Amino acid sequence: MTTQTITATASGTWKLGDLTVNRIGFGTMRLPQYGAAFAPDAVPRDRDQAIGVLRRAVELGVNHIDTAAFYFSSRRSANELIAGALAPYSDELVIVTKVGPGRDRSGAWEAHARTPGELRAQVEENLRQLGRDHLDVVNLRILGTDSIAERFGALADLREAGLIRHLGLSNIHPHHLAEARAIAPVVCVQNMYGLGAAPEQEEVLRLCGEQGIAFVPFYAIAGKGREAGAVASEEGGVQAVADRHGVSAAQVRLAWTLHRGPHVLAIPGTGDLDHLAQNVAAGSLRLSEEDLAALSPAE
Ligand SMILES: NC(=O)c1ccc[n+]([C@@H]2O[C@H](COP(=O)([O-])OP(=O)(O)OC[C@H]3O[C@@H](n4cnc5c(N)ncnc54)[C@H](OP(=O)(O)O)[C@@H]3O)[C@@H](O)[C@H]2O)c1
Repeated sequence: MTTQTITATASGTWKLGDLTVNRIGFGTMRLPQYGAAFAPDAVPRDRDQAIGVLRRAVELGVNHIDTAAFYFSSRRSANELIAGALAPYSDELVIVTKVGPGRDRSGAWEAHARTPGELRAQVEENLRQLGRDHLDVVNLRILGTDSIAERFGALADLREAGLIRHLGLSNIHPHHLAEARAIAPVVCVQNMYGLGAAPEQEEVLRLCGEQGIAFVPFYAIAGKGREAGAVASEEGGVQAVADRHGVSAAQVRLAWTLHRGPHVLAIPGTGDLDHLAQNVAAGSLRLSEEDLAALSPAE
C-alpha cells in the first residue's frame, strides 16, 4: 500500500459529544522516552523528534490526541510536548486526557486519585501542562470492579463548572458504563483491546456501539507486549493477511479494530515517522470477509 498521501480522513469520522474526530488518532504514551513506557531507566526521547512526530500527525489529519499527565520520563512530558508542538491549538484538535493514576516525581506509581480534591488537582495539572482553560475530554481511568459513582460524580461536577467539556471512562468492566451514565453522559470508553481480546472486552465494545459511545482501544498493536511495545514476530493469520495486502502486521491489527464497528477509534502510539504514516494509512485498509475470517476469532 502506498502510504505517502493517505491522511486520517480516510478512516472516517466519529463524534465525541459535539467534537468530530477522524477515527485514526494518536496516543502519546510512547513520546516521552525510547522503549518501554514507565521504565525507571527510560532514556528521554529527543525533544525535536517527538515534536516532529506530533506535528506530522496533525499534518496527516490526526485531530484526536490521547495523553495523560503521568506520561513522562525524567526530562520529557507528553503534555508539555503537545503544548510545545501544537499550541496555539486549532479548533479542530481534540485532546483527550485521563485522570486517576498518578506518579511521583521519581516516576514511581502512587495510589490512584479518589477524592474530589485529588481528581480536581489532576485535572488542573493537565490544564496547566497543556496550557488550556478547559479539557476537551477527560477519561476516569480505574483499576478493579469497585463503584465509580463518587469519582465520576466529582468529574461530572468539574464538567458542570466548565473545566471539562466531555467525560469518558477507561479500563472499565461492563457494569461501570451504566453506573457512570446514570450520573453524566459518557462519550468514550478506552479499554485494552485488539486481536485476541477477552470476551468481556467484546461486551464493552458492543455496549458502547449500542449506546453511541466511542470505543477506543489501547494496545491494539502492542497487544501482549503492553508497555514494552509491539512483539517482534507475528504468527498465523495476521502476517498472511498483511502479505495479501502488501501492508504490515501492525496495519492489519489497527484495521481489524476499526472493522469492529463505526464507533471504534484508534490511538496508535509511536515515536517513528514511518510508523506514524503507516498507522494513518491503516485507516484506509479495507479487510475482506476472507481476511476477517482468517483473523478471528482464533487469533
Ligand atoms: N487508558 C489506558 O489505560 C491506556 C493504557 C495504555 C495506553 N493508552 C493510550 O493508548 C495509546 C496506544 O497504546 P500504545 O502506544 O501502547 O500501543 P500501540 O499503539 O498498540 O503500540 C505501540 C507499540 O507498537 C509500535 N508501533 C507503532 N506503530 C507501529 C507500526 N506501524 N509498525 C510497527 N510497530 C509499531 C511502537 O513502537 P515504535 O515507537 O517503534 O513505533 C510501540 O512499541 C498510548 O499511546 C496511550 O495514549 C491508554
